Amino acid sequence: MSAFQQYSVGVCYYPEHWPESIWESDLRRMLENGIHTVRVGEFAWSILEREEGKFDFSFFDRFLELCSESGMHVIFGTPSATPPAWLTKEYPEVLNSNADGVRFQHGGRRHYNYSSPVYRQKVSLFVKALAEHYGHHSAIIGWQIDNELNCETSDFLSDADTIAFREFLKNKYETLDELNQAWGTVFWSQTYTSWDQIEVPKTNAIHAHNPSLLLDYIRFVSDSAISFCEMQAKILRMYVDKNQFITTNGMFGRLDNHRMAREVLDVYTYDSYPNFAFSVDTDWTKDTMHDRMSSLALTKVRSICPHFGIMEQQSGANGWYNRMEAPMPRPGQLELWAMQSVAHGADFISFFRWRTSPIGTEIYWHGILDYDSRDNRRLREVKTFAEHLEKIQAIQGAESDAKFAVVQDYDNLFDADLDKWHARVHDLSERGLFEAAQVLHVPFDILDLRPETPLEELMKYPVLFVPHMVIATKPLVDKLAAYAEHGGKVLIGCRTGYKNEHGTCPMQPMPGLLSELTGTTVEEYSFVSPAENEIVGDLDGLSLHAECFVESLKAYPGTDVLAAYTNSYLRGDALLTKRNMGNGAVYHLGSTFSRETSLQLLSYLNLAEPYDPWLQVPPEIELMSRIKGDKRYIFLLNYLQETKTILAKVPLYSMITGETIYGEVEVAGYGVMVLQLDA
Ligand code: GAL
Repeated sequence: MSAFQQYSVGVCYYPEHWPESIWESDLRRMLENGIHTVRVGEFAWSILEREEGKFDFSFFDRFLELCSESGMHVIFGTPSATPPAWLTKEYPEVLNSNADGVRFQHGGRRHYNYSSPVYRQKVSLFVKALAEHYGHHSAIIGWQIDNELNCETSDFLSDADTIAFREFLKNKYETLDELNQAWGTVFWSQTYTSWDQIEVPKTNAIHAHNPSLLLDYIRFVSDSAISFCEMQAKILRMYVDKNQFITTNGMFGRLDNHRMAREVLDVYTYDSYPNFAFSVDTDWTKDTMHDRMSSLALTKVRSICPHFGIMEQQSGANGWYNRMEAPMPRPGQLELWAMQSVAHGADFISFFRWRTSPIGTEIYWHGILDYDSRDNRRLREVKTFAEHLEKIQAIQGAESDAKFAVVQDYDNLFDADLDKWHARVHDLSERGLFEAAQVLHVPFDILDLRPETPLEELMKYPVLFVPHMVIATKPLVDKLAAYAEHGGKVLIGCRTGYKNEHGTCPMQPMPGLLSELTGTTVEEYSFVSPAENEIVGDLDGLSLHAECFVESLKAYPGTDVLAAYTNSYLRGDALLTKRNMGNGAVYHLGSTFSRETSLQLLSYLNLAEPYDPWLQVPPEIELMSRIKGDKRYIFLLNYLQETKTILAKVPLYSMITGETIYGEVEVAGYGVMVLQLDA
């Protein structure tokens, strides 16, 4: 679903922040520096509807006219993230509330709730008027719905949300008996005898709720955000040209982004701030996993939409007037981060923002230009980036050359959002697998698994990691079984299969529904305190580190024990098992996929350094590879300020410089190299 035919560069622009007299020269300077698209309008409600029902588009008419004249493309945002003061004053029920049930004041942004019928009506009327007015404007290429759904808060606790939550539950359970049974409300006398006893989870005496209620509440928030987005998308589709795409910019939690992208959007866009809000005392010059971690987020985005856009790409230092500090990108970093996005599948890079705002909350969230508006180093870097993008246009549309996938599903993402035991192992394994794959230069994908995912999607990968499928459901377990039968290798970790879809724990040995696949049961389990000695196991001489959580496994006949614990109270117990299944195999690791363990496992599975025949790359450099036709494209990204040396074992074409490299070659600090070779 690529909405972009070729690589292009854009910028976020707020005509309402500047005197009209400089619009024209701003647009001219953008075009001179390789920027051909502006995103506008996403917070401009009070300009377009100053009083209820009185729409006045003259301001943006004048701006869009200039865009048409100069050949600038426009993405227009629907401003539902910032309802104006007249609206919240007249209809206070549109405001969100805090956990104590106190309505938020007007101000800031995202102060609304998704559920209020009045708000939905006001937004619909606005979007209809906007789409009718601009739906055929020649400058407009696309529409952004709202801004960053679920950013800043994903707690929706207004009265309107409680009413909508009850409806959501009625649709899901039909009867209170069903709901009480599913949630286990007999615990602590929580049984409901009338639907209107159910509330969204606000503050209670112990600051804790029934976890099954919370799980359904998170699903409800996700559904509400999607339906709010869908409501706007439907209106836009009725009025705007078919070739204008519809997107929204993410990516935030408590939201099934995959479903939203598939059912509602034409293309997904992401806001990438790799140097986001570093604390001032972080030594980010030495640790290559700071801004490099954004590649994990970009991998997730690629799984939502393989060819996506970046609606906001960091171009300056970060900071609001009161919080979040991060330094100015050093020479080269602006392009490095933009190329990081391209390497992972972005076709469109729109920098945030053209010029730093001299007014309002974000006076330290720097754009390309400073307040003084003079040409500067960052603008020169944007121009260079745009020129370099032209040189690699051939890559646009190439697919990721992933060597394995990490499986996720939203039941488990949502459960990890509320369950600390789950979050701890989830976060550790997510980071561990990512870091190991990074230093061993193994591109990987994230695979969102659902009952309807075709088996072919799974079969694209020889290996699937399913780190902690805490909630196991039969349709997903059957998918994994079919995958293994057909030759795939599945690796599951600890804490698998001990909850059902309601988040309650069936009375059966772990890994529950997956026990048949793994040919194991869990006999003992516990957290490992960091204060305890390091717990390790031996895998053919490779040392597996059991971090954070341990399980001792019992292997059924036919299941092989590959590694046993070599120390601690678990000494001699099975840590890693393998069961052959059909043409494939299922491995069960009784711990997390920590960085150390993942390094060993990737080597054990022969996945490490797949590009070794052509290249040797130091661990500090990220390698991302994409394939199109008979060509492979390799991005090398150096996140350090010092130069690093790579070894080209065969002559390789370097697309940005146009040279052929061979032997030892330097990649400059914060530098990028893009190589083309035969696939
Ligand atoms: C993004 C948001 C922008 C701007 C930026 C800097 O999350 O979409 O509107 O606020 O952060 O704070």
